[in-house]
Amino acid sequence: MRTIRHLIPLVASLLLALVARAAADEPTNLITPVPGYVSYGEGMLDASRGLNLYISGKLSAEDMRRIETAANECGIELRRAKRMPRKEFLCLTLDPGCASGAEGYSLTIDSRGVAITAAAPAGLYYALQSLGALVSDALTLPALSIEDSPRFEYRGILVDISRHFRTKEFLMRQIDVMARLKMNRLHLHLTDAAGWRIEVEAYPELTSYAAWRKPATWKEWWNGERGHVWEGTEGAYGGYLTKQDARDIVAYAADRYITVIPEIEMPGHSDEVLATYPELRCTQQPERQGDLCVGKEATFAMMQTILGEIIEIFPSEYIHIGGDEASKGSWTECDDCRRRMREEGLESVDELQSYMIHRIEAWLNERGRQIIGWDEILEGGLAPNATVMSWRGEEGGLAAAAAGHNVVMSPHGYCYIDAPQDAPYSQPESIGGYLPLEKVYSYDPAPATMSEDVARYILGVQANLWAEFIVTDEHYEHMLWPRAIAIAEIGWSKPENRNYQLFRERAVKIVDAMLADGYTPFDLKNEIGNRPESKQPIDHLARGKKVEYLLPSRYYAPKYAAAWDDTLTDGLRGTWTYADNRWQGFLGRGGVDVIIDMEEVTTIRSIAADFMQICGPGVFMPCLVEIAVSEDGENYTKIADIEHEVVVDELPSFKSFGWQGEVRARYIRYKAHRSAYSGFLFVDEIVVN
Ligand code: ACM
Ligand code: ZN
Repeated sequence: MRTIRHLIPLVASLLLALVARAAADEPTNLITPVPGYVSYGEGMLDASRGLNLYISGKLSAEDMRRIETAANECGIELRRAKRMPRKEFLCLTLDPGCASGAEGYSLTIDSRGVAITAAAPAGLYYALQSLGALVSDALTLPALSIEDSPRFEYRGILVDISRHFRTKEFLMRQIDVMARLKMNRLHLHLTDAAGWRIEVEAYPELTSYAAWRKPATWKEWWNGERGHVWEGTEGAYGGYLTKQDARDIVAYAADRYITVIPEIEMPGHSDEVLATYPELRCTQQPERQGDLCVGKEATFAMMQTILGEIIEIFPSEYIHIGGDEASKGSWTECDDCRRRMREEGLESVDELQSYMIHRIEAWLNERGRQIIGWDEILEGGLAPNATVMSWRGEEGGLAAAAAGHNVVMSPHGYCYIDAPQDAPYSQPESIGGYLPLEKVYSYDPAPATMSEDVARYILGVQANLWAEFIVTDEHYEHMLWPRAIAIAEIGWSKPENRNYQLFRERAVKIVDAMLADGYTPFDLKNEIGNRPESKQPIDHLARGKKVEYLLPSRYYAPKYAAAWDDTLTDGLRGTWTYADNRWQGFLGRGGVDVIIDMEEVTTIRSIAADFMQICGPGVFMPCLVEIAVSEDGENYTKIADIEHEVVVDELPSFKSFGWQGEVRARYIRYKAHRSAYSGFLFVDEIVVN
């Protein structure tokens, strides 16, 4: 039996190993995503005279080409060796019997050379990405050993090329970065109301008509007629991938061990299809709704023909069929949909949607493919083999996993990188919210608290970059990077190896390298950070005092209730987003009208509250703020009357409306009037001093 005394040398050696590791930590802080296990050796490898490249194992000619290309991109001069070299080597061994898994690898560097082993070509490829990151300007490499493999098999990015078309060249440039980060799925959102973006031979109007519109900005288009125009019309804005473009992208991605997953939206988000083929509408009348008619056989004939062409181009096992946000409104009014429901015994429109998804799944399964869809495909009953992409939160994903379905997590609170990543006033116009790098990085798709029965179905994680507000390529890259780097590390690295501060240092370097390479990522060095007021609770005279909400301001929106009636005096200031449970949102005509009871007559020198304005989602400043005080709660004296001209602006703003002076009072009435713009008023705290 071991005694404590026997353990002392063991503990001491463990401590020593830890100290040694801390001292030598630097080299692995070059590799993103951070690798699994690293141990450090003595000395280094001098690769300045080049290395002898030797590849062994059964690689297909295609994999051989991919691996050799990746080796040549590491920044070391390579000479192809015919036999296993004894020194100055870079040896790559494909050994299907080794324990690295489908994408893992082991990599050892000592003074003689670099030895890499993997069970599959992707592992060799990823090892070479790590090696490339370790090569210094002086072409020296630290002696070390790495055992590395991904935590999740699915590490993806959604690129929306529907709202604004992006070219094949643009997509390939993003694929280059993904590959360096060991990401392996590019989900292309090819179809949506604002434009169809993939050639389909059977339906040429999808690209000669549905791919083009007049207003270039999505906002103008959405707020206007939402129509399409023929290709070649003067001023037509849009574009599409030809089949050859798509094949080129697929091949380019495959050379980097990335699978391209095409998304063809159904039954919702199909306005552009209906605009082109009105016979697939429930009513067959032009109208503003984007759901395909599920009653008509023509809908299935068309979708299957399209998918038939899609699976010829995209070898991906997964085909994304959308499934999100169908309004289902027209289906209850449609004879064909009603007949379908009657004949199939469907009791609700949710079941009607589910009928469609089941049928499409069966059709794709017969052809060897699997469907993946947004979490709404759970409604009305999930198709038997479907994988769920959980976006409205994690609930859909958890329910699907509990039922034994595979899940990709992309909850909007962490993975929707269409929200601004820094102080919104410093960022280009975007959808609302605030999603900084640190918050993305804090996400864990399968935390320790998740039961193993559920966690085993979590395939991985994806960043979604919707493009409604993103007109230019430069802006798109600005939104994508560096937040997608965080997704790469969440998808690959073990939670115990993740550390935000170290990650951020690496991300700054990656961003700098990208900038030098002509990319336009958000320049992380210049990050402003969260709203300063929100960082600590503040103390003031009204903190904790009771607030009475006068009608109708009592009816603040339940979704933006924050701390309900305590919100305005709880000492907690809001962040850059109204969706943080700190800002309280008022939607009714009355605006904000509250009375704070200070409990006793008090000397008051200032009263102020902040409001925000983000016009995109309809959040506006007040047009008038009135402040009045009273000693008895009956007779009020107005002390401030602050008028404000509300101007629609592209950039969000924050503004304080307040009074300063000296007055004695017990009750404070703070009233903020809404302007003529319909939308929310948001306020976080009424600060009294
Ligand atoms: C989605 O954001 N509607 C999937
Ligand atoms: Zn119908």
